[in-house]
Amino acid sequence: MSAREEIREYVLKTPPGGIRRYDHDALCDLLGVEDRSRVIFEQGVGREAIVRVYPSNPLTDMRPVRPDDLRMDADGCVRIGAYFDDEPLPFRLFDPDTGNAQRGAVFGTTGAGKSRLVQAILAACKQNNIIVHLADLKHGQSVPEAKGQTATHVTAQYDTILMLRGLVAEAERRMTAYGALGRSGFVIGDPDPLMYGIIDEANRLLEKGAPFRAEAATLIKELGRTGRSVGVGIIIAAQAGDLAELGGSDTLRAMLKEGEVILLRWSSSMMRQLVQDGLLAKGEALQPIPKTIGRVRRVRRYDAPAAQSANKANSQGMLYHLTGGRPASMARTYMVGSTAPTPGFDPVILDLYGPTAPPGEPIDLARYVTVKEAEKGMRPRAGALPTTAPTLPDPDPAEAPQTPQGPPTIARRILALLPPDGMSVPDLLEALNADGRGTRPVRRGTLLTTLSTMRDRGQVARPDETGLVRPLPADQLV
Ligand SMILES: Nc1ncnc2c1ncn2[C@@H]1O[C@H](COP(=O)(O)OP(=O)(O)O)[C@@H](O)[C@H]1O
Ligand SMILES: [Mg+2]
Repeated sequence: MSAREEIREYVLKTPPGGIRRYDHDALCDLLGVEDRSRVIFEQGVGREAIVRVYPSNPLTDMRPVRPDDLRMDADGCVRIGAYFDDEPLPFRLFDPDTGNAQRGAVFGTTGAGKSRLVQAILAACKQNNIIVHLADLKHGQSVPEAKGQTATHVTAQYDTILMLRGLVAEAERRMTAYGALGRSGFVIGDPDPLMYGIIDEANRLLEKGAPFRAEAATLIKELGRTGRSVGVGIIIAAQAGDLAELGGSDTLRAMLKEGEVILLRWSSSMMRQLVQDGLLAKGEALQPIPKTIGRVRRVRRYDAPAAQSANKANSQGMLYHLTGGRPASMARTYMVGSTAPTPGFDPVILDLYGPTAPPGEPIDLARYVTVKEAEKGMRPRAGALPTTAPTLPDPDPAEAPQTPQGPPTIARRILALLPPDGMSVPDLLEALNADGRGTRPVRRGTLLTTLSTMRDRGQVARPDETGLVRPLPADQLV
């Protein structure tokens, strides 16, 4: 007997306008199903709702995301996951009909899978030559593998503000330029590339009491309003109790109604708010996403031991794509990276980004420092002479000067190995593992990460079309 044959399906007639209140527990009790995640409720079109009872949650095992999922199709979409019935889940990065970049938001509580989804979007952007300016506001720890994979990478709130000012300035520059050309719309690559500002942990920037809250809200709103028609989009990922928390009442509401909105596991207050904010139609009832799937109700009698549920799995990545074609259908992101924690950067995620340099140039943050801010010593302005000696990049503990008896770092070993005219990554990996200076084998992922750090430091050149890793002579250091 195949799994398909075990699926029970019920088509329910609903009141006009759909089901307003939906009690998943009650429905499961009615069906006699203890494992709540086996029952999938879907609001159909018109006056129909469909309830399917699966042998196990159909979204339990997702396959890993593949580079071809992340290739933009003719509709400007990439595929980031699948619905419970296997239909791919599209995420739009460009609208070829209107020439618009998108504004997107990914919501969910801590651990719901926001940052992994952001990594998939970042890898998709890189693969499709979309320039990304990224803020990772959890000290760079939300999407650690993204370092060196985007044109700009900031981790501080003030730098994020500078980055957003830069994005708005770029949108304004494009508007003026297109106006002068008599252009009405944006065309990818003609003359400008598609560009996104992406902010993970945006709640830190937008929550009450955040130092730049008001300006951040204004800039994001501005990008949402004017940037998209000139190919400058904005995507945020946030953990939030409600939308009003994010920069005031109407910052995101208007912007998101037409954007790409993804709701991962949420808090109930967030859910109420989404309905109030009109992001969720009144008649729509979403089946809640449980923290674990495959779990049966534990308490049978007050003194009976809790029933141990076998094979329970976490629900990270389960979501609703509220602005997609099937807003009330449960979906899940493909697997992005390893499920078990990795000691350093996740090699699977690094592979997803690939070894090439990201497209685009970083935003010159110093250009967007105001005179006042410079006077307050927040950061020197571009063009203005710094009052103190230029600060060197923070030393990386792994790169601290070596005591003579300590083992050399991988970066030092690479510099010792690289001929002036460069070497391919596979050759370099082989040479490293044959140089006899390491204490353990160097893996490809580690090498790629080290190279990306070294590129950021100006120790090796950004890859050109030959793909060779070349050393940068010290006199070329910027
Ligand atoms: N798409 C995914 N593929 C594989 N593992 C995932 C995925 N989404 C979430 N996870 C797992 O859940 C953990 C938390 O996910 P994360 O994206 O960091 O959540 P958030 O940013 O919402 O706090 C990850 O460390 C990973 O183990
Ligand atoms: Mg996160």
